[in-house]
Amino acid sequence: MIDPVQAAVGIVVTLLAVGALLYVFYSRTNAVEKTGYGALIMLSIISVMIPVFWIMESNGQAIAKTQQHNTDVQRGAALYAQYCFQCHGLTGQGATGPKLNGNSAVNALTDADILRIISAGIYDPANPGGTPLMPAWSDQYGGPLTQDQIQYLFALIRSADPAYLTANGYPSGPGSNGFSQVPNELKKNNLGAYQTAVAQATKGTGIASFPVVDMTKQKSITIDIIDSPAGAACQPACYAVPDPKNPGQEIISPNVKVKVGTTITWVNKSKTPHTVTSIVGENGAAPVPAKVFDSGISNLLNTGKSYPYTVKADAFTFNTNHIVVYYCQIHPVMVAALTITQ
Ligand code: HEC
Repeated sequence: MIDPVQAAVGIVVTLLAVGALLYVFYSRTNAVEKTGYGALIMLSIISVMIPVFWIMESNGQAIAKTQQHNTDVQRGAALYAQYCFQCHGLTGQGATGPKLNGNSAVNALTDADILRIISAGIYDPANPGGTPLMPAWSDQYGGPLTQDQIQYLFALIRSADPAYLTANGYPSGPGSNGFSQVPNELKKNNLGAYQTAVAQATKGTGIASFPVVDMTKQKSITIDIIDSPAGAACQPACYAVPDPKNPGQEIISPNVKVKVGTTITWVNKSKTPHTVTSIVGENGAAPVPAKVFDSGISNLLNTGKSYPYTVKADAFTFNTNHIVVYYCQIHPVMVAALTITQ
């Protein structure tokens, strides 16, 4: 950026110099002397212009470099909102994966290490041949990232380190940390995933964090099982109900509040078969069967199939908090909840 004070000083100095030379020029009467001084004036003006052009050019380069950096960080934030926040948190605060925003261990990684981790993932020694600790861009994530995408994500991660920004001549003031842009990117592209992430970030990851959707006024309701929208934390499919406050939008991973007597119909609109099976507690990874409802493993809910269940009094008394948690026997990470009222 050209500093206005610097520019004003430059103009005054130039005017004084030119003025002084003009004075010298007109105070001479001899035509030969005038010609000589005229040439001198021309030379002075040109020699003043050269550094001016040079300063303008390098300023232009610095501005272009900063603009490029800002664009890279913004694109990195958009990619992060698609592929990374599920494990590293909505603002890089960490979830199942490590904290990336304001983590001195991450800041201390070399550029080459960060680029390698993003592009190749991290192998899990405890699970050879299985899912890597950090995804190496499997088909589930749409395949490997491109070189450009890796650079954008790299710029995003580095933007959280003010020392790196300063050392590379990038602005490091407020707003320079790209992680602050992730919530808006996610909100723009996937409201349901955004709401789930906010709920999880503020209340932990338990069932208590699931958005409660009150359907106690309805005698019968439908809960869809859908393929995970891009960026959704629920994998490989999500439970979804229409959002009463935002027509046309869905609430993902809901805790649906229903009355005893209500008929709930789960409809499988996803590509894979599922079950809806109630459990004791809320840990699908170590399920304890609960005899409240179960669509059954021998009677899979294939794509297009549905399972009806009419809520009975035993569901209300099953837990003291009147919440019944259910999951999919084939995909134990798919967990959702019903809050029962009488
Ligand atoms: C499925 C969960 C998951 C997703 C999705 C994920 N990560 Fe990770 N990531 C992890 C885990 C777990 C680790 C830690 C692995 C280990 O133990 O070293 C990790 C580590 C990292 C590290 C190294 C941090 C350190 O402290 O050494 C970086 C950088 C990173 N991830 C970036 C990303 C980026 C960028 C994305 C999105 C493109 C992403 N991750 C998506 C789970 C995930």
